[in-house]
Amino acid sequence: MEITLRDGIHWVGVIDWNLREFHGYEIRRGTTYNAYLVIDEKTALIDTVRAPFGQELIEKLGALTPLDRIDYVVCNHAEPDHAGSLPAIMRACPNATLVCDAKCKEELSAFFDTSAWRFRVVASGESLSLGKRTLQFHATPMVHWPESMATYVPEEKLLFSMDAFGQHVADSARFDDESELDVVFEEAKHYYANILMPFGRPIGRTLDALSALPIELVAPSHGVIWRRHFADILKAYRAWTAFKPAARVVVIYDSMWGSTEVMARAVVEGATIPGVAVELRHLRKNAMSDVVTALLDAPCIALGSATQNNSLMPQVGALRTYLGGLKPERKAGFFFTSYGWSRKATSDEAKGLFEALKIQELHAPILSLFTPTAEVLAECRAAGRALAEEALRQAKEQTQGEG
Ligand code: FEO
Repeated sequence: MEITLRDGIHWVGVIDWNLREFHGYEIRRGTTYNAYLVIDEKTALIDTVRAPFGQELIEKLGALTPLDRIDYVVCNHAEPDHAGSLPAIMRACPNATLVCDAKCKEELSAFFDTSAWRFRVVASGESLSLGKRTLQFHATPMVHWPESMATYVPEEKLLFSMDAFGQHVADSARFDDESELDVVFEEAKHYYANILMPFGRPIGRTLDALSALPIELVAPSHGVIWRRHFADILKAYRAWTAFKPAARVVVIYDSMWGSTEVMARAVVEGATIPGVAVELRHLRKNAMSDVVTALLDAPCIALGSATQNNSLMPQVGALRTYLGGLKPERKAGFFFTSYGWSRKATSDEAKGLFEALKIQELHAPILSLFTPTAEVLAECRAAGRALAEEALRQAKEQTQGEG
């Protein structure tokens, strides 16, 4: 079935239904690699797909136009999920010129043998006429790599936004208004948290620049195309890029013989107050990608780890590494542990973790010798309540500031 965004503008992407791991993190619903064909007096392919799907893309293109009539292949982003099949496409389309920015050309030449490719290097703001339609290129550095750009078609008020506003959802629906919207937004948040979180500030600047464009359709490189709900996803992006606090507390922990888990549940009990959402996440029973998604808009976290070999448990170390790369901002919380014969080793390590991740310490570490006593559990409940009150305060302050 042909899928058109506008007359002569076709979705020619592929659906990767069974993908559950994406460059090192777990995803839940597969993904799509979106590519688009603009047929005008000149014909342009906007982006390609991951390498194993190159032949499927070639067949889709061939059904719409003779391959030797493709004049341009625009590469908005050199990452292999979009550029991986470029060698096959450039071989199949003998008259195509590869259009990209200077940084992208450099990166593509480091990935592939590009010696036989014709390049047209474009700068931000430059345009390329296809006849009735124009492609306008806008640099979007760090959305998601340094070379990234978006391509805008002013005559159609259409933005090919690359990774921005994407979601890892394999779905037969191609447009937001045909899809289950709560799933799309959940996956857009998961995508943002795991891929774009470290680049919030450059993305915020990009949103400012792109918001000046009249936009009716936004076609990202993953997931559904936004034609009814772009204002809503833009609003969500504004909140995520600024780490706007929601009234949310996340309790993350790993436990060896169950004592740290008992403490975690006491923290949750204390944090459960009206108006605050509380989540409990065991680090070995939840995908790391889900844990960081829960953290994205939670200003307050409690982190627990049993003491194992005088150290934090391994999955807490993995969380430190993963979050260290994602660089969450505006977080506050406290640490709790059940220990055996080394009272301070783990809490000292946790202090380093809080410092490295710039998490403000709201309460001194709570330490329990083996099974937590009633006093320790009361302390966990009190600290949990204080955490929830702080999250509520921050969320209210945010709402008042916006009002
Ligand atoms: Fe979907 Fe940054 O690639």
